[in-house]
Amino acid sequence: MNQKIIIANWKMNLGLKESMSFVKNLKSAQNKVIIAAPFTFLPILKKELVKKSIMLAGQNVSAFKAGAYTGEISAKMLKDAGSRYCLVGHSERRFYFQETDRMINQKIKRLLEYKICPVFCIGENAQERGRGLTMQIIKKQLTLGLKYIKGPARILIAYEPVWAISTFQKGKVKHSARPEDIEEAHLFIKNILKKMYKNKADKIKILYGGTVSPQNAKGILGLKEVDGALVGGASLKFSSFNAIIKSV
Ligand code: PGA
Repeated sequence: MNQKIIIANWKMNLGLKESMSFVKNLKSAQNKVIIAAPFTFLPILKKELVKKSIMLAGQNVSAFKAGAYTGEISAKMLKDAGSRYCLVGHSERRFYFQETDRMINQKIKRLLEYKICPVFCIGENAQERGRGLTMQIIKKQLTLGLKYIKGPARILIAYEPVWAISTFQKGKVKHSARPEDIEEAHLFIKNILKKMYKNKADKIKILYGGTVSPQNAKGILGLKEVDGALVGGASLKFSSFNAIIKSV
């Protein structure tokens, strides 16, 4: 069976103690597991994870290479801290920190310079979907984010419809996207990538994110067009994240 890629996006949650006990519990899995942890924990967690072939990801990177940019973390620093992957273009960064497609494009370039695999997040919000703009938004984010980037075999795309991300939902019960919506968007993304990168596009994996849980993981990860999952809320507890890893 095809190995799936499962990424925990811890966001700004979990302290060092909880993070350590989480990774101590993790076992090498049949699927590829990546933990997107806060910057400050990366070198500490790396020591624990290295022996389990579990990789680390940053949650953000500076669009600048180096210099007088107080508070920023460069791609090189991420690399030195043990990060092989990095999230970029997450909807929370776009929404709360006004990240534009242009900035995201710069960040992807910085990551590729240091051979860090970008986990490039794209996806429409509720309003855009309501206005029938889903495919237009996906196309715009994808083409602008990957502008001037040649044949990126080492990149992951995460389709994360903003309306399906648990923290953007108001009600108590959270919903992921329907399987048919996920498949439709992933196929659309695949076709755009094919136009951009011809046969190299086949190497680019497409993950889904948005309320992936132990209850729906098997169904979502079992979809033909889904190469993995980016998990937020359900990655904060070892038991639920472990159940997702083990679901396929
Ligand atoms: P969620 O978050 O799984 O809590 O919906 C996913 C994400 O924000 O990456």
